[in-house]
This record gives sequence, structure tokens and C-alpha cells, in this order.
Amino acid sequence: MKLDRFLGKHESAGRRQARQWVVERRVTVDGALALRVDLEVDRFSRVELDGELLGDPEERLHIMLHKPVGVVSATVDAEHPTVLDLIDHPAKESLHLVGRLDRNTSGLVLLTNDGQWSKRMMDPAAKVPKVYRVETIDPIPDEAVARFAEGFYFHTEDLTTLPALLEIIGPRSARLTLHEGRYHQIKRMFHRIGNRVVALHRESIGDIGLPGDLAPGEWRRVIHE
Ligand code: URA
Repeated sequence: MKLDRFLGKHESAGRRQARQWVVERRVTVDGALALRVDLEVDRFSRVELDGELLGDPEERLHIMLHKPVGVVSATVDAEHPTVLDLIDHPAKESLHLVGRLDRNTSGLVLLTNDGQWSKRMMDPAAKVPKVYRVETIDPIPDEAVARFAEGFYFHTEDLTTLPALLEIIGPRSARLTLHEGRYHQIKRMFHRIGNRVVALHRESIGDIGLPGDLAPGEWRRVIHE
């Protein structure tokens, strides 16, 4: 919502009054002087009039979690522990997942209460890169690099996967960068070249990497540069 509407709602002020306050430099948003009444504010914005906080803004939460194998990427599950069970924050019930990992996949999972952030991170058009470490049962041939770059046709969804970057780092291990996230995508891709994934771990999403000192089961807030 725009700042003038916000001021109107919280201070029962009309548009003109709101504009007047802004002109008189009496309004700040997130600590910065508001210079326009059409500034976008949301439920996380700290709007102050004459230094007084209006309303009760929510805390914006962007969380990274090191998901261990065996934990479900969901907020509720009847059978298994969920990623939410690993988070001890008073506002954890407000969190939703920014993409999922299979139960037997480990690594970086993001959670947030900020729908705009998750939308941006998951927007197919943004093609946010996700990097995985893959261990396979059989050796990975060099030809696989070209196959992953070409894409695989998935009959169920009637689509061809986007070019993926496969870097072979050992006879049975690779680093794979995807720009999308289809159901069981990596397992299905390796299945298509006659191999099988035995371990899968997500290292990063966009510019957010799993920190080396974040142990499985631990979480921390994402610090934006
Ligand atoms: N691809 C998979 O097959 N599993 C995951 O958890 C993520 C990508």
C-alpha cells in the first residue's frame, strides 16, 4: 500500500493531511525520511510520525537452514520431522518455504514470511541458479556434460529442461547448476543417462551459499549485502 493510505489508516488522516506531514518532513520509513506519499509500504515497514512508531510492524524474516537427510521440506507432516521443527523463532509459524528439497536430499533451504522475496527467488523468469553436489552409483561419463546442457524432455510435464551446467569433479561425483526446479529433477536427469543418484546436497541458491560453519539442522538469518 502507498504511504498516504497507511497514514490515513493509522492516523485517520486524509490524503492532504498525509501529504502535509511528508512535506513538513515529519515522516520516516525504515529510518529514512519519506519524501513522497506514494512510497510503497507493507506490513514490515516501520513508519514513524514525529518519531513515533505507527502500528505494530512485523519482523521480516529471511532464514537459511541446513536441512539434514530425513527431514521433510514442509511446515507440517504426520510422519516425519519438518524443517519448521528445526527452527526456534517466536514467529516461526509465519514462515513458508522458498522451494523444496526431497526428504533424502540435504543442504540449503530458505524460509521466509516475506512473500515478495520468495516470489522473486522462485520466479521462473528470474532463472535463479541453484547449485547441487551429486554423488552417483556409477561413474559419470564426460558425454553427460553435453546431455545436461542440451536438456532432457520430460514426458509427464511435456517440457525440456533448461540447459544445466554439469561439472564432473570425481568418477562418481559432480556439481550441477540448475535454473529451475522440477519434481525430482536431478534424480530423473541422471536416470535418463542410465545412472542413479545416491546422495544429493544443495550448496547455494542465487548468491546465498550454505555457510561451511552451519551444521546440519542449524539455521540462521540471511544477511543481505
Ligand atoms: N532434484 C532432485 O531430484 N531432488 C531434490 O531434492 C532437488 C533437485
